Amino acid sequence: MNDTTIALVTGANKGIGKETARQLAALGHTVLLGSRDLERGRAAARELDGDVRVLALDVTDDSSVAAAAAVVADQFGRLDVLVNNAGIALGWAVPSATSLDDVRGTYAVNVFGLVAVTNAMLPLLRRSAAGRIVNVSSDLGSLTRQQDPASPYYGQLPLVAYSSSKTAVNGITVAYAQELAAAGITVNAVNPGYCATDLNGHSGQLSAAEGARVVVRAAQVAADGPTGAFFTDGGTLPW
Ligand SMILES: NC(=O)c1ccc[n+]([C@@H]2O[C@H](COP(=O)([O-])OP(=O)(O)OC[C@H]3O[C@@H](n4cnc5c(N)ncnc54)[C@H](OP(=O)(O)O)[C@@H]3O)[C@@H](O)[C@H]2O)c1
Repeated sequence: MNDTTIALVTGANKGIGKETARQLAALGHTVLLGSRDLERGRAAARELDGDVRVLALDVTDDSSVAAAAAVVADQFGRLDVLVNNAGIALGWAVPSATSLDDVRGTYAVNVFGLVAVTNAMLPLLRRSAAGRIVNVSSDLGSLTRQQDPASPYYGQLPLVAYSSSKTAVNGITVAYAQELAAAGITVNAVNPGYCATDLNGHSGQLSAAEGARVVVRAAQVAADGPTGAFFTDGGTLPW
C-alpha cells in the first residue's frame, strides 16, 4: 500500500479550504483539491506546491459526490483524511427575517452536503490505516457560546441559517465519532476563527492560512484519538 497520506478537502478552490490544501501538501500529503468548478479548482491548484490534484466535487450534487468517490477509489483505493470544509452563509438577518430559501440553501451545503460526502467517502476511509474526518464548523455553532453574555457575538447572532447549520455539524460530528471509534476513524469539528474570506466579505481578523492551522492539526490527530472533540486555536470549545 502507498504510504503517502491521501487527503481530500472539499471547497478548496479558495479561502480556508485552499490554505488547508496548501498546508497539507506542504506536509507531503497527496491532496485532492475539491472544487465544484473545475476551472476555479485548477487555478487554485496552480498556486499550490506539492502533490495537489483537482477533484470535481459539488457537495450538493449526488452524482458529483458519487463520481468523486469513484475517482478516489480508482486512483488510490482508499482515503486517509477527509476535510469537510465546503460551506456557505446565506441569510444574514435576524431569525424572523430569514427566508426559508436561505435556510434550505445553507443546509444543502453545510449539513446535507457534508453528510453526503462523508457517507460516500466512508468505505474509502475504512480502508485507511488511520482515517480522519475533520468537519469545519464555527464557534457560531456552539450553543454554549450563543448563550454566553461574555461572547463577542452575544446579542447580534446567532443566525438561524448559518449558526444552526454549524450546530448541526457539531451534532453530526459527535454521532459519526461514536459510530466510527471502533473502526479507528477519528471525527472532529474545528473552529477556524474569524478569517478574512469571501464568506464574510473579508471582514475577519485572521488570515485564511491562520484559520487553516487548526484544520490541519485535527487532520493529524493520533489514530487513537482524540475524537468527537470541537477544536479551536489553542484548545477546545464547548458544544
Ligand atoms: N471565514 C470565517 O471566518 C469562518 C469562520 C468559521 C468557519 N468557517 C467555515 O470555513 C469553511 C470555509 O469557508 P471560507 O471562509 O473559506 O469561505 P469561502 O472563501 O467562501 O470558501 C467556501 C468554499 O466552499 C465552496 N463551496 C460552496 N458551495 C459548494 C458546493 N455546493 N460544493 C462544493 N464546494 C462548495 C466554495 O466554492 P465556490 O468558489 O465554487 O463557491 C469555496 O471553495 C466553511 O465551512 C465556513 O463555514 C469560516
